Amino acid sequence: MRKVLVCYFSRTGKTQQMAEYIAEGIRISGQEVELKKISDIKNEKELMGYDGYVFGAPTYGWGLWFLYPQRGRA
Ligand SMILES: Cc1cc2nc3c(=O)[nH]c(=O)nc-3n(C[C@H](O)[C@H](O)[C@H](O)COP(=O)(O)O)c2cc1C
Repeated sequence: MRKVLVCYFSRTGKTQQMAEYIAEGIRISGQEVELKKISDIKNEKELMGYDGYVFGAPTYGWGLWFLYPQRGRA
């Protein structure tokens, strides 16, 4: 059995939900999986010992609001 780390950043929960679905898919395929928030990983040693990695993060283009004010805010 292989061991996979799925880690993510999520501000409002959408990426977290996707990470949970991905982790469940990996689990169903018969592999061991750990799900972690990126902010909970304190050093590189915590990234060791896995056979595979999935990283996920949303895009937040905060600065671009100044360039495209006509598009409004989300
Ligand atoms: C202030 C703000 C800025 C954003 N900037 C971008 C962007 O530049 N590009 C993009 O594709 N999505 C952008 N989004 C959409 C978010 O990436 C999207 O809603 C994402 O699913 C949020 O993920 P989270 O719920 O895991 O935090 C922005 C959303 C907000 C509220």
